[in-house]
Amino acid sequence: MKTWIKSTLAAGLAIAVLGAGVTTTQPAFADGHAKAGKMMHDAKKKMNDAMAKMKGPKVVKVRRLSMRAISKANKNMKAAAKKGNTRGVVRASLQIIRHANALPRMFPKGTGRGKLSPAVTRSTPAIWKNWGKFIQANNAMRNAATRVAIAANAGNKKAGLKGIGKTCGGCHKPFRGKKVAMKK
Ligand code: HEC
Repeated sequence: MKTWIKSTLAAGLAIAVLGAGVTTTQPAFADGHAKAGKMMHDAKKKMNDAMAKMKGPKVVKVRRLSMRAISKANKNMKAAAKKGNTRGVVRASLQIIRHANALPRMFPKGTGRGKLSPAVTRSTPAIWKNWGKFIQANNAMRNAATRVAIAANAGNKKAGLKGIGKTCGGCHKPFRGKKVAMKK
């Protein structure tokens, strides 16, 4: 993974964690927050520029990989919760938060069905017609993951047992088209 993507994810994570109050308090809290904010801003700009330059099918590949990683993290979350492994649950939640933070930039205009072949993408034009709703669906997933992270971090062994499964359908139903034979 490119370093700047890593730093974006790290900064996004720091903000998500600090904002959610998952970490224990640190003396340099405000400082760290400001620094993470600046890092986030710089890295976000670089990421946006790079995503904008990516040709359609390439960015689709990136987001499909991201989706698979979300799916894996969701499975890991449930497996960890079954074992009472709260640290594992927190780790999996944070992975999902990280992917949710990057998600909007993985859907530039002109990369859905209608522009690209259905064998390349299952993203429907409804995404760009209802961008606000699409972002809300993403936020719902991120909020669910944040709630699980906070609860598991506080020692709740049941947090994460169900994963955050319902929020997936909240986006897939309105915004993902029928499966056809897809290119890998
Ligand atoms: C904000 C919307 C949104 C949310 C939330 C979301 N997805 Fe997706 N997902 C999509 C879209 C759109 C696609 C189709 C991507 C494409 O083909 O361009 C997709 C595709 C996928 C794929 C297929 C990837 C591939 O290889 O083609 C998997 C697996 C997946 N999602 C799992 C999940 C899981 C698990 C969750 C919840 C934990 C989730 N998604 C949450 C929008 C979302």
